[in-house]
Amino acid sequence: MNLNHREKILIGNWKMNLTVKEAKLLAARLVKKSKHLTADRFIGIAPSFTALESVGKKLKGSSIALGAQNCSYKSKGAFTGEESVETLKELGVKFVIIGHSERRSPLRETDEIIHKKVKKALESGLRVILCVGERIEQRETGTYKGFVTGQVMAAISGISDVSKLSIAYEPVWAISTSGFGKKPTPDLVQEMHHEIRDTLQDECGIQIGRSVSILYGGSVDANNVREYLQKDDIDGALVGGASLNAESLVRIFGV
Ligand code: PGA
Repeated sequence: MNLNHREKILIGNWKMNLTVKEAKLLAARLVKKSKHLTADRFIGIAPSFTALESVGKKLKGSSIALGAQNCSYKSKGAFTGEESVETLKELGVKFVIIGHSERRSPLRETDEIIHKKVKKALESGLRVILCVGERIEQRETGTYKGFVTGQVMAAISGISDVSKLSIAYEPVWAISTSGFGKKPTPDLVQEMHHEIRDTLQDECGIQIGRSVSILYGGSVDANNVREYLQKDDIDGALVGGASLNAESLVRIFGV
């Protein structure tokens, strides 16, 4: 399998780490430092909802796309605290992260909710970064492969157009803050990415299996990102902690 078939995607997930003021400052630094980056990749950052508008203004005219960390599966109505894809698009959002492990647990988003969100976001024309990944117990008991591919299929089955879908494999135990920050070897990540790709090929056809980009996330930083991306089925990275520093994120974007 050749990476040339697929887009390279590098995303910074700022989670709930920055105030609006801090997010604006970081976005401005990023834009300044990322001018040299070539257009052969999709790069983006996902600030919190409240910072979307002002960060979006800073990103205008740059190659960095604006993303959201979540979205509702409804367009409007009595959904306190939720945000619709329509509103996100109005703010210039181009992609949305769905099913992050921090939303699946402790925030209790089920496979069914995640499926509805993926469907809604793809239908609206947004790019989707669907997160999947096992917990440490599933890794230790050897049930992780079926669990992760099950999460993928639960999220996408029945959705006909997945041309704007990417998948981020993020083993929960590898996440630097909400997990244990244990770094898996590139070979171990490659094994799971291959499994996901095989499942996509079996369930959705060769074309889709080959073209969906699969990102890795979990303690990725400027020093280890290259090793991961050298593997055949690792097409990009979803970065948390290391995305909060402009220098390190620009190094990751440029990999
Ligand atoms: P991390 O987070 O890079 O800090 O491990 C990744 C993520 O949660 O998306």
